[in-house]
Amino acid sequence: MTTPPELRAPVVHIEPHGYAFDAPASLSILEAAAFAHVRLPRSCRNGTCRTCLCKVVAGRVSYRVEWPGLSREEKDEGWILPCVAIAETDLVLTAPEAEPIEPSSAPPRSGSARRF
Ligand code: FES
Repeated sequence: MTTPPELRAPVVHIEPHGYAFDAPASLSILEAAAFAHVRLPRSCRNGTCRTCLCKVVAGRVSYRVEWPGLSREEKDEGWILPCVAIAETDLVLTAPEAEPIEPSSAPPRSGSARRF
């Protein structure tokens, strides 16, 4: 039995690599990618530097911030900032610079947090 789309987290597909991961509303697309061991370009993580800029091929997003660093024309063309964008529907994104995050071979140190 398949879960109806309205009861599951949106799925984000990253092209041209074919990565796919769940993107619940509690996470930005950038955070959801990191949890799935996919690294997207990023720097400020607050919607201002535009390092994470990528294009939506299909689907819809909303934003955590009122004024993400995009012009109206860029939004209309499908450009998004995944560091502050939330997947509203299943998405297909073009992000050629996405890459897998290799798991560390070193054992985690006691008391340290793991960052992506
Ligand atoms: S990481 Fe700076 S705008 Fe997304």
